Amino acid sequence: MSKPSSGKIRVAVIYGGRSSEHAVSCVSAGAVISHLDADKYEVIPVGITVDGAWVVGESDPGVLRIVDRRMPEVEHREEVRPSLDPAHRGEFHYSDGSLYAAADVIFPVLHGRFGEDGTVQGMFALSDVPVVGPGVLASAAGMDKEFSKKLMVAEGLPVGREVILRNRFELSEAEKNLLGLPVFVKPARGGSSIGISRVTDWADLRAAVELARMHDEKVIVESEIVGVEVECGVLQYPEGRIVASVPALLEGTGAGEGGFYDFDTKYLDNVVSAEIPASLDAATTELIQSLAVETFQALACEGLARVDFFVTADGPVLNEINTMPGFTPISMYPQVFAASGVGYEELLDILIQQALHRA
Ligand SMILES: Nc1ncnc2c1ncn2[C@@H]1O[C@H](COP(=O)(O)OP(=O)(O)O)[C@@H](O)[C@H]1O
Ligand SMILES: [Mg+2]
Repeated sequence: MSKPSSGKIRVAVIYGGRSSEHAVSCVSAGAVISHLDADKYEVIPVGITVDGAWVVGESDPGVLRIVDRRMPEVEHREEVRPSLDPAHRGEFHYSDGSLYAAADVIFPVLHGRFGEDGTVQGMFALSDVPVVGPGVLASAAGMDKEFSKKLMVAEGLPVGREVILRNRFELSEAEKNLLGLPVFVKPARGGSSIGISRVTDWADLRAAVELARMHDEKVIVESEIVGVEVECGVLQYPEGRIVASVPALLEGTGAGEGGFYDFDTKYLDNVVSAEIPASLDAATTELIQSLAVETFQALACEGLARVDFFVTADGPVLNEINTMPGFTPISMYPQVFAASGVGYEELLDILIQQALHRA
């Protein structure tokens, strides 16, 4: 593959996008861009607007951050299109056909649908360009709480009870008895807690389903799992070795208005702190780390994932997997690896090299 005269590896950092996590993606990308080793990597920023237009991205990552509770957004600028042709792999063109830039590797710092769900991964697979993170299958399965749970269950991994609602707003009596109260009602393919409600009275179920359905026609209703929230990073090295980070234990997730780890609690209220490493006994820590790696493999992930648990009185239960976890300065994924001896710059280096050296 041709390299620029600088000899640097050209990384297209793609961010924003049509999902409800647009702004979080912008903040993640700002942190990624500012932590890429400038001696080794050249950044090609590519933004996707909330409407889905691909545009020349921000050259100053400092703009991509939260200021006074205001989240950043991709502005509509000159449009660029990725090439789907393997003979022009990695190229992005302006609408007049001239070249914006050519990338050696794509880093889709996209959260949620139309980005973390296999769509973007599939598009770049068409032209054989390496992409950081999981491929089409793992991304699609990981995004979908129904199918990721099915794959977890098939591997014998511990998950809670749930009911999927398609084309209906109510649960049957048998389903209500199965789940019990409280329940969590979520868009099946959501993220950042957007559209999620905790329901303590069946009379409130319909409104919660309507809210979740604004984000996804498929809704998942889960039994509440009582336990502390623990998150574990998984990283795959270029030679294939898969490691789990030390786990993080989230404190204060119930401190926000919603009573759980909702959007404001995650990004705006500064009420959550993480204990890293989590002060769990050695056996529980080891179990979480091995379950995290097994989950990564159950979904055929590559590169990275963050696996989230509840640690209950009866042991760990899986909550969900994120195949492009947050990379904001306060995000758990970079922090748990920093605490495991892999700093942010090195982490990005491993991820990019893993994408480039994938068999
Ligand atoms: N079944 C559950 N039991 C208890 N708390 C839950 C449950 N499901 C979700 N939550 C709470 O809601 C938060 C967001 O849910 P999650 O499934 O992780 O959605 P997202 O993909 O948006 O992060 C969790 O971090 C937790 O605080
Ligand atoms: Mg979550």
